[in-house]
Amino acid sequence: MHLAFCSIIVFIFVCSNQGHQTMKVAIIGAGPSGLISAKYCADAGFDYDIYEQTGAVGGTWVYTDKTDLDENDLPVHSSMYKNLRTNLPKELMTFGGFTYPEELKRSYLYQAEVLQYFENFTKHFHIDEHIKFFSYVKQIESLTNGKWLVKLLDVKSKTETEHIYNVVMVCNGHYEKPFIPDIKGASGFEGMKLHSHAYRIAEIFTGKTVLIIGGGPSGIDISRLLSKVALKVFLSHRNVIPIKLPNSVYLKPIVKEIFKNSVVFNDGTEENIDVILYCTGKVIYKHMYLTQNNNPMYNKIRYLINVKINFDMTNCKTCKKTANFTL
Ligand SMILES: *[C@@H]1O[C@H](CO)[C@@H](O)[C@H](O)[C@H]1NC(C)=O
Repeated sequence: MHLAFCSIIVFIFVCSNQGHQTMKVAIIGAGPSGLISAKYCADAGFDYDIYEQTGAVGGTWVYTDKTDLDENDLPVHSSMYKNLRTNLPKELMTFGGFTYPEELKRSYLYQAEVLQYFENFTKHFHIDEHIKFFSYVKQIESLTNGKWLVKLLDVKSKTETEHIYNVVMVCNGHYEKPFIPDIKGASGFEGMKLHSHAYRIAEIFTGKTVLIIGGGPSGIDISRLLSKVALKVFLSHRNVIPIKLPNSVYLKPIVKEIFKNSVVFNDGTEENIDVILYCTGKVIYKHMYLTQNNNPMYNKIRYLINVKINFDMTNCKTCKKTANFTL
């Protein structure tokens, strides 16, 4: 999973004639970008509602055992796994006006700490009062008067409602489908294969020999977690690994070919493998509800804003160096 705060980019669709009434804003998603957008809406005196398809705030930072569909049959967007540690220091993940507690000295936090920060932020600014949980946005339509019609499905009662807004902020993240590279022989592999999107807990790999494909943030972090329980972990990567990995993680070049129970790497070495774990990222989310033929939303994007985050690095001793943490 890409942990960088890229999802903080918010698309705003603004109508042409807003008049002087209170601006009504619909925010889609109660993850980090939805929450900070809500704070700015409140500061500006806007009337806003947040529509969240799950029952929790925090978006991608919420841990769930589910990997495919949630209990309401909606796709699980989060790829969060147990004991994830961020690849960004908290000093770069702080929202303006609300700091992490003084006692939390470490820069690189665990998932539960980050999630608690978002929960605290939500309560502190009374954002929770504006969140409509279990509300799935089915479609957004532009109206001739310049406003927006938001069609909602209540995923519990299965009832549909329609609401009108001046502005819609799309804050539901932009990564969707797991990306799996096409590697020769992969379909003939007889062991377990999965993508990091479906990875949750390390313990199921106890005693196994695991090949992690991909040396990005999730590949590196998951290799750290698996090294504690797996028999052996091989990490196949193409770029420089910026940190020291545990001794039981063996670095390998890219995979040349996959066989029934083994893998051959580009340097000619071959290893027996029980599990292949693809840490190869996700592809961009398509915002399906914006791409109806009769609804050329993309032409209506007027503003692309990058929400201000607190960029004060003075208290961050490790910020200037790459990944200066010990495993
Ligand atoms: C969240 O708030 C609780 C209660 O005030 C506090 O104990 C905790 O340290 C806070 N945690 C974070 C990460 O902000």
